[in-house]
Amino acid sequence: MLTDTQEAQVTSGSCDARDARDAIIVALDCSKEEALHVARTLKGRARWLKVGMTLYYKEGPAIVAELKSMGYNVFLDLKLHDIPHQVHGACQSAIATGADIISIHALGGYEMMNAAITAAHEAREAGAAAANIIAISVLTSMNEQALNDIGIHAPVADEVETLARVAKKAGINGMVCSAWEVERLSELFCHKGLFVVPGIRLANGETNDQQRVATPSFAKSHHATHIVVGRPILQAPDMCAAFDAIAADWERCS
Ligand code: C5P
Repeated sequence: MLTDTQEAQVTSGSCDARDARDAIIVALDCSKEEALHVARTLKGRARWLKVGMTLYYKEGPAIVAELKSMGYNVFLDLKLHDIPHQVHGACQSAIATGADIISIHALGGYEMMNAAITAAHEAREAGAAAANIIAISVLTSMNEQALNDIGIHAPVADEVETLARVAKKAGINGMVCSAWEVERLSELFCHKGLFVVPGIRLANGETNDQQRVATPSFAKSHHATHIVVGRPILQAPDMCAAFDAIAADWERCS
């Protein structure tokens, strides 16, 4: 296991969000056929795709390999949360897919997050390209009432910060949080790492099941390095136009 003092290290140069195409991660919460259609349609625009549970549980590691072979960076968003031994093994398997970013739940605690980072460290020592491991704080679909319902009585921002402090101590490479908390977490990590913000909507956009939503430019101005966008692109009549609108909003903030 790694030590408490290990600093979060970001392993992949491709994670630097230079422009909108490096910052926008398109969430493929759909079938393989739809996912490949999205990948072909957005080729030349998007650089990042997100494979979540819907797609991965059906298609397995092959879908990551296929998207990588098309030239995409892949965020494998499996939100791992189990005992440390199991998460260590799951991360080894997830890293072997070639994914660039892998997510775990910070709620799993220090030992679990440390086990995930250890798996990445071991892969790197063995000469493999190891993914960045990032930790989910509080899901953007949850608000304070939803936290109260499960016995967490802290304000959302405080709970997010508590989880981020533990994640930093475990050596995690970045955090997933809403745009409303990202500035504080970026400061906490001394602006080093990946700060990935879902719950992104253009002004007047449909929020769906998301609670803590914000625009791309708001997220960027609060130090998000990446934004995750699913339904606003996948359910748009013109996916390219929807991607371009999100990109234009991101670029509005210099
Ligand atoms: O469709 P929409 O843009 O709301 O999709 C958001 C994506 O971000 C989903 O794939 C979801 O799994 C992911 N996500 C989230 N909240 C988090 C972490 C990830 O909505 N805290």
